[in-house]
Amino acid sequence: MPFETELLIHQSVKGRYGVDLPTPEVRNRTGLNARSEIGLPEVSEPQVVRHYTRLSHQNYSIDGNFYPLGSCTMKHNPRLNEKLARLEGFANLHPLQSEEHSQGALELIYQLTDWLKKLSGLPGVTLDPAAGAHGELTGMMMIRKAHEAKGNPRKVVLVPDSAHGTNPATAATCKYTIVTIKTGDDGMVDMDAFNSAIETHGEDIAAFMLTNPSTCGLFEPNVKVIADTLHSIGAYFYCDGANFNAIVGKVKPGDIGVDVMQINLHKTFSTPHGGGGPGSGPVMVTEELVPYLPIPYVEKKEDGTFTLIKENETTIGRIKGFHGQFGMMIRALAYMMSHGADGLQKVAEDAVLNANYILHNLKDDFHVPYPGPCMHECLLTHKKQKENGVTTMDIAKALLDAGFHPMTVYFPLVVDGAMLIEPTETESRETLDGFIEAMKTIAKRAREGDADAFHAQPQTTFRKRLDETRAARKPVLVEEK
Ligand SMILES: Cc1ncc(COP(=O)(O)O)c(C=O)c1O
Repeated sequence: MPFETELLIHQSVKGRYGVDLPTPEVRNRTGLNARSEIGLPEVSEPQVVRHYTRLSHQNYSIDGNFYPLGSCTMKHNPRLNEKLARLEGFANLHPLQSEEHSQGALELIYQLTDWLKKLSGLPGVTLDPAAGAHGELTGMMMIRKAHEAKGNPRKVVLVPDSAHGTNPATAATCKYTIVTIKTGDDGMVDMDAFNSAIETHGEDIAAFMLTNPSTCGLFEPNVKVIADTLHSIGAYFYCDGANFNAIVGKVKPGDIGVDVMQINLHKTFSTPHGGGGPGSGPVMVTEELVPYLPIPYVEKKEDGTFTLIKENETTIGRIKGFHGQFGMMIRALAYMMSHGADGLQKVAEDAVLNANYILHNLKDDFHVPYPGPCMHECLLTHKKQKENGVTTMDIAKALLDAGFHPMTVYFPLVVDGAMLIEPTETESRETLDGFIEAMKTIAKRAREGDADAFHAQPQTTFRKRLDETRAARKPVLVEEK
């Protein structure tokens, strides 16, 4: 069977069908039979099954192979969590069901909130945001509202140049001016640049948005000084907690001065992830910011039952329909309960161990911009290979032929030819060794001056070398016939 096959609509043969449905008695408002008028493909059941099975085989997935995409945390999602999310009582819930008939779901939300409070050391939690970036927006809206309540929303948000693009985008969406703080030669926040921004903008600063551990795979050593400095001028410390899986159970962000932090449930607590959703980005805040949490939220009544608080004068309001991504909450709580607090600590330890194992084994073959040890992801660059005409993009394409999904490339932007590798804690030593071997072979080929062959890769994939820019800017979305 050829790799590229016709769309189902082009396989359609008049009169062929896969499902024998009765002709509906009720016609639509035009009086016509809706099914025949909208031109659905007329195909048999085997055609449909084969079509989708074939497509699924063309798709690279975490269920099929190793996915070392730095900053994206593509780790295995335990099937137990999937099973629990499919329990009939949860799966068939209706969001408009009465409180009386939703007690189990409300209790689950309450329990997950409680776990997140304990793990973060922060007393306020909202589970509503539907992704990490949505959590950032929610957090920054709360910061703005808190400053407004004090009489001045302030003007500036500090963001390091190594930040994920969603950070400055969020601050700009909340009508702040972004002041970029440069990264020092050691990959950490340049404290001179930070202090100078504090001096220049002082009480105009609403917050600093810092990812910790950072996108350079490092834990910020000055985090406490940063927090104290911000608090001394009445600014908030927003921590992008997307990389919480590196420190969960080890560090409570509330203890190091964080005021607001989103965590991406899909990264740390292992829920499905991809294509911008269905993620979940709960936000944790200090006591001072609790009044601004979005509505609705769950409270426990004196009689032990649970209720939804839908109104509150100081809230930022609703940020999501109903109660957020409830299915993700079930999976995340199942993950937490099945690991236990000590197990979660081990998750962080194993994630960090695996990244350092890769860093240690590749440090002689690839340039390491910042000395290790690293946190849960390690950063390499193409510096050594570029001398032989082989770039990060070539390395990524060669990895495809070796059977691996490439790491994150050219991010963080502050590092030339960055390759950010996140193995996660769910991979075995054998898998890591296979990846290391593939990378070593690539480094050897580059040393031996095989640049032309690199430029012709990949050779074994469905599509060969794509024009990345054209594919992004001028995608072909309509199949030409
Ligand atoms: C550091 C960092 N912040 C924020 C985000 C945004 O999270 P989401 O993709 O869930 O919106 C990501 C996602 O990759 C990230 O790595």
